[in-house]
Amino acid sequence: MSSKLTPRSLIRFLQSNRSPLTHLYPRSPTSRHLVPSHRYSKAQSSLIVPYSSSRSFHQTSVIMAQEFKLKSPSTLSDLKELDKVEAEVEGIEGGKVLLVKVNGKISAVNANCTHYGAPLKNGVLTPEGRLTCPWHGACFNVHSGDVEDSPGPNALNTFSVEEKNGAVYIKGKEADVKKGSRQVNIKTKPTSDDKVVIVGAGSGTFGALLKLRERGYPGQITVITNEGLPIDRTKLSKALITDASKIYLQPGEWYADGSITFENDTATAIDFSSKEVKTKTGKSYPYTKLILATGGTPRQLPLPGFKDLSNIFLLRQVSDTQKIMDAVGDKGKKIVVVGSSFIGMEVANALAKENSVSIVGMEAAPLERVMGKEVGQIFQKALEKNGAKFYLNASVDSAVPASKVANAVGLSSVGAVKLKDGTELEADLVILGIGVAPATEYLKDNSSITLEKDGSIAVDEQFSVKGLSDVWAIGDIATYPYHGPGGGGNPVRIEHWNVAQNQGRSVGQQIAQPGSKQKPFIPIFWSALGTQLRYCGNTVGGYDDMILKGEPENSKFVAYYTKGDEVVAVASMQQDPVVMKTAELMRKGKMLSKQDIQGDGDVLQANL
Ligand SMILES: Cc1cc2nc3c(=O)[nH]c(=O)nc-3n(C[C@H](O)[C@H](O)[C@H](O)COP(=O)(O)OP(=O)(O)OC[C@H]3O[C@@H](n4cnc5c(N)ncnc54)[C@H](O)[C@@H]3O)c2cc1C
Ligand code: FES
Repeated sequence: MSSKLTPRSLIRFLQSNRSPLTHLYPRSPTSRHLVPSHRYSKAQSSLIVPYSSSRSFHQTSVIMAQEFKLKSPSTLSDLKELDKVEAEVEGIEGGKVLLVKVNGKISAVNANCTHYGAPLKNGVLTPEGRLTCPWHGACFNVHSGDVEDSPGPNALNTFSVEEKNGAVYIKGKEADVKKGSRQVNIKTKPTSDDKVVIVGAGSGTFGALLKLRERGYPGQITVITNEGLPIDRTKLSKALITDASKIYLQPGEWYADGSITFENDTATAIDFSSKEVKTKTGKSYPYTKLILATGGTPRQLPLPGFKDLSNIFLLRQVSDTQKIMDAVGDKGKKIVVVGSSFIGMEVANALAKENSVSIVGMEAAPLERVMGKEVGQIFQKALEKNGAKFYLNASVDSAVPASKVANAVGLSSVGAVKLKDGTELEADLVILGIGVAPATEYLKDNSSITLEKDGSIAVDEQFSVKGLSDVWAIGDIATYPYHGPGGGGNPVRIEHWNVAQNQGRSVGQQIAQPGSKQKPFIPIFWSALGTQLRYCGNTVGGYDDMILKGEPENSKFVAYYTKGDEVVAVASMQQDPVVMKTAELMRKGKMLSKQDIQGDGDVLQANL
């Protein structure tokens, strides 16, 4: 049966669950959590609400704008253009803001990123007022606090700034300083018959929903999903989260406010001429605009044993991590990870400390094809330090049963993975990390669309599906023309969290405000491989050289991937914000050349 997630049932989600942000920041203050009056910094002359120690006045001061003194700086005159200065706020425990100067104007915003809380003082600020987080590329407008690029699920609060009487003051609400972020207000009561249907509820969909409502789309929005509310999928392989509610991108209440209906169902076919999505439960969902965002399906290994034996797992959804963690049980298990891809490496890294983990890879070094052997070996060493054992240049032959006796459900459990050279790696469980295929089975026999060879959907620069009207495809299923460095408009399909979400944001904006200008973005990726990896750009056209700088032996490096004299991609560990600065330089066509990098060129000193 398909079950409808109505606004009321979405609110029920919230009663038992908290948004990810509430884990990072203190909850907003209520009347029960008032800060003692003596801890406020008084600037009586320009207070909007008179300062008072009486409870009723005090409550009012919490919800209305108030003036707060900063512990430092004491003057604004020392701030230089594009400076970013973190300042503590007097009277608010742990309260911090970031002062920034852009085109002579000084603004104050929350000091930490709304994604995972990185200090924005270490980010990258451009003359247009774009502030990019140093960790994963979330970008905010310092004048409005709005999100400009994913993955920030919330915006920043902004505060006015004033210098007087030998001190600097910000004006705003205490709750806004404390909370550290502003939930984007998508409250809508649809007023039009226009109807957007979105298939899938992942990263791309989240970006589209946010932009559709933020930009005032007045129609109805239905999301058909077989996974529930959008989650932070990237945490599955890094922290093996087994409770979806802990990684919701937004709580159910937020979607309910935006009059967004979630249908728990699976799309099985689409009739593009009658404009309807058909589902497994036999329903039809009519649309005026359709966004396809169904992501990837992890690949199975078509080798003996892998299909038949139990305790062999894929990893894409929370239901997968639940199965994996059930099999891991009280730790100390023998685990074989097949595939030295990002997901395989991350899950191996997460499990290696408390289990005996072996990684089987076909290349001479993990991720060699994408990152090169030298860089791959840095990752290998980092994981080996955590206890993982590598079997490289290896091919898998089969999965071997633990015993010939079938279990209660008729399956025998895996006991080992046999390699082509005869080696048998004992295994209590096996995790496959051998890539994904675009999840487009529901379009396979559709005569209105021709899928690409890999099963993906070809789209144009606006992510509009070629040959169809009012249909867009985003995320892991979309092959789009790449115009970043070295791209030349060549088609590429990029499996990155930010790419999916930025594409979704772009489509949401186009639907809400037809004809509005699209913002180009540079692909950004991250991974946790012992140390945090950042990556930007793309090697769609290949790369012919790699320049490695830093201390690779200490997992502290920058790798520049070049084609001819152009830097087409950059990877780094422990060198923030080199990758985010590079992404901004690439976006503006100002990235240093290979020759610059080989010489004294320094990305961090380059002008934006
Ligand atoms: C474990 C893991 C870790 C990752 N870590 C990183 C990382 O650190 N950094 C990074 O940049 N990228 C990472 N990625 C990649 C990133 O998560 C994806 O590129 C991104 O989620 C793609 O977004 P999407 O919207 O295209 O698809 P998804 O987020 O996969 O969402 C697709 C949704 O559609 C649903 N769906 C599919 N078919 C149907 C159907 N027929 N009917 C209804 N619903 C359907 C799916 O259940 C899912 O909910 C990771 C991926 C995984 C699996
Ligand atoms: S912490 Fe800022 S983008 Fe992730």
